[in-house]
Amino acid sequence: MNPYKTLRSVVRFAPIETDPVQRRLARAASVADLRRIARRRLPGGVFDYIDGAAEDERTLAANQAAFARTTFRPRVLRGLEKVEIESTLLGQPLAYPMVLAPTGFTRIADPDGELAVARSAERAGLPYTLSTLSTRSIEEVRAVSGGRLWFQVYAWRDRALVKEMIDRAAASRYEALVLTVDTAVFGRRERDVRRGFSLPPAIGPRTIVDGALHPAWTWKFVRSDPIRFANVVGRGVGDGASPVTLSDYINRQFDPALSWHDIDWLRSVWSGPIVVKGIQTVEDARLAADAGVDAIALSNHGGRQLDGAPAAFSLVAPVADAVAGRTEIICDGGVRRGSDIVKAVAAGATAAMAGRAYLYALGAAGERGVDRVLEWFRGDIIRTMTLLGAARVADLDRALLELPD
Ligand code: FNR
Repeated sequence: MNPYKTLRSVVRFAPIETDPVQRRLARAASVADLRRIARRRLPGGVFDYIDGAAEDERTLAANQAAFARTTFRPRVLRGLEKVEIESTLLGQPLAYPMVLAPTGFTRIADPDGELAVARSAERAGLPYTLSTLSTRSIEEVRAVSGGRLWFQVYAWRDRALVKEMIDRAAASRYEALVLTVDTAVFGRRERDVRRGFSLPPAIGPRTIVDGALHPAWTWKFVRSDPIRFANVVGRGVGDGASPVTLSDYINRQFDPALSWHDIDWLRSVWSGPIVVKGIQTVEDARLAADAGVDAIALSNHGGRQLDGAPAAFSLVAPVADAVAGRTEIICDGGVRRGSDIVKAVAAGATAAMAGRAYLYALGAAGERGVDRVLEWFRGDIIRTMTLLGAARVADLDRALLELPD
């Protein structure tokens, strides 16, 4: 036996990776890994703004726990040669059943912000929803993407401003409006309260220390354009030119008296599909279907609004039973893997939506991080469906799940 020969047969030196983003990505295998990297790279206040949720964060935890509690009933020996994961939503094709959720202030995770996410979504063949409170404008995002774009609307007290934004979205060929209905007042996000977090982050002694401890983020932040609420610059409602706490801003600007009548108003100013995001009960899902909306997003805003609201995924099956065929159902909250998306669809959703999954990726590795997560999801879905014995998205049904009572 020649130990040298044996050793030589197994030793492998990978070339040294000089690109720091590639180096970071090479160490990550899951969204949880990217979250850990983002936590290290982003200032504490920025990470907590993304990661945190309302009060005791029970609903945040419940969103993920609901997926974890549901197991599969895999079917074997089904002779699958090929698995097809393409699907449709609002009558248009999806590379796989997912939509990127709207998230405000995306540029605090990475200066390319919404532009990076929109480009990545287009490459993946998925719709991207731009938040009303985005840090790149409706037009700037359209300029970098020829893909499916949705526009998320909050009900500002100033409806003329809402109408103006809707007209701009139509002129920029956004496909659908997403009306978020769970933000009558702002949820109490205690991590932000504790840190006195404002947008853009105010510079004070604490943030200077935080910034100094995260030099890569700070250097990019100070070198890029100032972060603004890009859709309302110059509209007299505060555009973030000076730091505001989100709770003060939203409680001052948004209309808590939003009602089902406002859906009619929306329809009078927008001729495309309407998605209502923030449905949290079967009763409201029925009312939304009665109102004729094209899709509902079962959502508690990622646990950021009412702590104690039900997990989005746990609503899918009962809501699907109540409104099947009358409106499409999107399951929004807690998605960290492609297998979660498969569970959502098998339970009765048309698609899932995810926010933090791509934000952690953006904070950890910029646009390439987002690409990576969207590729993982695609691979996860193909693998999971293969192991489940489901050849097409249409084959996903509840017989493949062990749903808790
Ligand atoms: C959000 N969300 C959100 N929703 C919305 O309608 N308008 C918005 O501006 C924002 N902003 C926002 C910022 C950040 C940092 C997060 C994490 C979330 C909620 C978002 O659209 C979605 O409902 C949740 O992110 C879903 O939960 P997961 O995927 O993050 O678990």
